[in-house]
Amino acid sequence: MTLLAANSPEQAVIDRVAEIADLVTVALDELLPRADGPESRLTEAMRYAALGPGKRLRPFFAIEAGRMLQVDEQAVLRAACALECVHAYSLVHDDLPAMDDDDVRRGRPTLHIAYDEATAILAGDALQTAAFDIILDEDTHDDAGVRCELARRLSFASGARGMAGGQMIDLLGVRDDLGGVARMQRLKTGALFAYAFEIPLIISRGGEDAWHALTSFAHDLGLAYQIIDDVLDAEGSAEEMGKAAGGKDAALGKTNFVTLLGVDAARHRVAHLADQARSHLDLFGHEAEILKASVDFVLKRRS
Ligand code: IPE
Ligand code: IPE
Ligand code: MG
Ligand code: MG
Ligand code: MG
Repeated sequence: MTLLAANSPEQAVIDRVAEIADLVTVALDELLPRADGPESRLTEAMRYAALGPGKRLRPFFAIEAGRMLQVDEQAVLRAACALECVHAYSLVHDDLPAMDDDDVRRGRPTLHIAYDEATAILAGDALQTAAFDIILDEDTHDDAGVRCELARRLSFASGARGMAGGQMIDLLGVRDDLGGVARMQRLKTGALFAYAFEIPLIISRGGEDAWHALTSFAHDLGLAYQIIDDVLDAEGSAEEMGKAAGGKDAALGKTNFVTLLGVDAARHRVAHLADQARSHLDLFGHEAEILKASVDFVLKRRS
C-alpha cells in the first residue's frame, strides 16, 4: 500500500471523489420519484439501479469542473444527478439478456435478476425520463434557455449519435480496426463523459477556449476509461470489479482495444491518452490541479 501525504493532490482527489459521491447519492435519493400504488415496484427498481454503490465518476467530473469554473453548485449538482440517472439506465439496459446478459453489477444482482426483465426495461425507460424531469425543473436554473441547452446536450449525448449509437455499434461488432473501435468507444462512453464537463460550461456560458479544453480532456479521458474497462474485463477479477470479467468481451467475439492490440499496447495507449488529457488543462493553470490528478486516480481503478 502506498501512503499518500495528507495534503497531496492524490489524497485531495480521493477525498473529493468520496465527498461528491455522498453529495450525489443524497441528492438523487431526494430527486428520484417515490410511489405508493403498485407502480412502487418501478420506483423501487429505479432506486435500486441509481442509488447502488456506483463510483459516481461522471457527477464527480461535472462538480469538480464546476468548482474550477466557479459555477453555481446547486445547478451543477442537479444536472449531474440527471446524468447519473442516464448512466444508471444505460447500465440496466446494457446488462439485459438481449445485450450483455450479465447477472452481477456493482457487486449485486443486476436489476433484471433482482426484479425481472420487464421491470428492468421500464426502470431504464423511467430513469431516462426522470433525468429530463430533473433538468427541466425550474429549481435547476432560473434561465429556461440554460435548462433547454442542458436538456438538448444530454439528449444528444445519450441518443443515436452518442451512448445508444455506440451501444448499437458494440452489439453489431462492425469494427475491425482501431479507428472503428475508437469511434465506438467515443460514442458509447465518451459522449456521457463529455456531457459531465458540458454541464458547468453551459451553466457558466463558458468561452470557446474553455469548451475546447474541457471537452478535449473529456474525450481523451473517456476513451482511456473505456480502454481500462476492457483491460479489466480481460484480466481483472469479477469479485474486485463487482461485474463480469475473465475475458467475457473476447469470449463474446467483441472487438476492442485489448482484443486488437493486446493488454500491454492497450495500457500504453491509456498512458498516452492520460498525458494528452492533462495537457488540455494547462490553460487553467493551478486551478486544474485536482482535475489533472484525477486522471491517474480514475485510470488506476481496479473496479
Ligand atoms: C461502467 O461505468 C460502464 C463503462 C462505461 C465502463 P462505471 O465504471 O462508471 O460504473 P459505475 O457507475 O461505477 O458502476
Ligand atoms: C457499456 O460498456 C457502456 C455503456 C454505455 C453502458 P460495457 O458493456 O463494457 O460496460 P460494463 O463492462 O458492462 O460495465
Ligand atoms: Mg456492453
Ligand atoms: Mg456490459
Ligand atoms: Mg466492460
